[in-house]
Amino acid sequence: MDSTNMSILWTLAAIVMTTLAGNIITKFLRRLNAFAVPIVGVDTGDLNTLKGRYVQEADVLLREGYERFKDSIFQVETPDGPRVFLPRKLANDLKPFNRHEASGMKALADRHIGHYTSIDHESDIMLGAIKIDLNRNLGNFVEDVQHEIAHCFKTQFPPCDEWTPIDLHEKLLRVVAQASARIFVGYPMCRNEEWLECSTKFALDVMTGGEKLKQWHPWLRPIAQYFVPEMTRIRGDHQRALELLLPELEKRSIGSDRTGLKSRNDMIEWMQQRAQKLGDKSFDSKELANLQMLTATAAIHTTRLAIIHALYDLAARPEYIEPLRREVLDVTKDNNGILRKQHLTHMRRLDSFMKESQRHNPPSVATFQRKAMIPIDLSNGFHIPAGTIVQCNTNMLDEAPAEWGDPNGFDGYRFYKLRSKPEDTNKYQFASTSYDSMQFGFGNDACPGRFFASNQIKIILAYILLHYDFKFEDGIVGRPKNLMFEVNVLADPTVKVLFKNAS
Ligand code: HEM
Repeated sequence: MDSTNMSILWTLAAIVMTTLAGNIITKFLRRLNAFAVPIVGVDTGDLNTLKGRYVQEADVLLREGYERFKDSIFQVETPDGPRVFLPRKLANDLKPFNRHEASGMKALADRHIGHYTSIDHESDIMLGAIKIDLNRNLGNFVEDVQHEIAHCFKTQFPPCDEWTPIDLHEKLLRVVAQASARIFVGYPMCRNEEWLECSTKFALDVMTGGEKLKQWHPWLRPIAQYFVPEMTRIRGDHQRALELLLPELEKRSIGSDRTGLKSRNDMIEWMQQRAQKLGDKSFDSKELANLQMLTATAAIHTTRLAIIHALYDLAARPEYIEPLRREVLDVTKDNNGILRKQHLTHMRRLDSFMKESQRHNPPSVATFQRKAMIPIDLSNGFHIPAGTIVQCNTNMLDEAPAEWGDPNGFDGYRFYKLRSKPEDTNKYQFASTSYDSMQFGFGNDACPGRFFASNQIKIILAYILLHYDFKFEDGIVGRPKNLMFEVNVLADPTVKVLFKNAS
């Protein structure tokens, strides 16, 4: 054998040895990571089948886990390795830990390999701007948002003189993005087509790019990221957001804004003011653009999905449409059908319907995900080593309190009725989180944007109820079944809803 062949052989041998060593180490680490708790479905299929089931029907697996192990911890095999699911009651054990001890954001970042997809970026400026400034100002925006929504429907929706099929996923993405941008970046930037495209596409690039990069062995990801087109696009999205934002910032800094609108009171301003207050020297236009992209990512797709679910639920149960339309008309009659802040609070039936719709169609069947940043011991003796992600099995409808009535049925007025007791009038709202309602998470770090989301959803649904009749296209019977991607619950995007101008 000549020396060239010998060196090829040695190279091949080295590759085989490295791969083998890699596999052995990975398996060893995996075993170290395994937990002494039962694995759901292990007796029904091999590892690959179980991983596939987790991707396509995590809801079924979690139900199996709940039925077999009730109040005990179990694990599920996933493409990312074994995942530990806690029964809901153990959420109370995790609740006292702060975000530096048990982190929801780190759990999310790990899921989407945030180090590469750029979402592993926690910012006190962003959290403060949402938790404090946005929530404090919610009431001031009702008219502006309503105006923006009306503009969007008029420009984006077809005439609908006859029954017209509408792709809700596409149209509502635009409506929610523009209505949210009204508060995040202000007018006229909220109508900038490129900004809207950039801020909505970013989330998809993160999700898809993250999934594709995960197919590569962790050791190869530093190089593989350059072969995944979405990863390149993510870098492009950040750059484009900055380029689009700069003229707006320039305009603001020299005070030459002649749009004639009221003084700025939006997320750009709040973030800038917070950075100043915190004396954060690293905060610049680039960081502002990044935080805007992250805020839009957290806000837009989640809100759009909640509205689509509510509309599917309404179209499947048309008996709710007229009473809810009447409620909108009744509460706004003192202002010619134009919504004011207090009107949103008065739409209790709509609020209840939204909450019931979310109970049946949560964003995820396992909210309250946390990455243990320190070792954590639970009350049942289970030890969570630092670095482990845990989540709660939060969507078992039959765990609802007895006073809620039939837990599995759909009762759009369930929470309306529960709120009728004077002592419970402020409870059970769409945006309320509690041990029995964890769709927005739980504890201190539950979704800080939920009050804003509640308002946005109400304003959009009220607009639709007042301006359109709607129904499913022929052939659709009942409520279309949701699709699952891992623990995420998605509305079937192939379903078309027909819209017609209200008579
Ligand atoms: C219907 C719409 C929405 C749903 C279903 C939703 C759901 C969630 C959930 C389940 C969490 C995790 C909470 C936990 O684990 O305890 C979360 C966190 C978060 N959400 Fe939302 N969200 C929505 C709208 C929004 C909006 C409009 C914003 C921004 C304005 C937002 C910003 C955030 C942020 C920043 C976090 C991370 C909080 C933290 O780690 O402290 N969300 N959301």
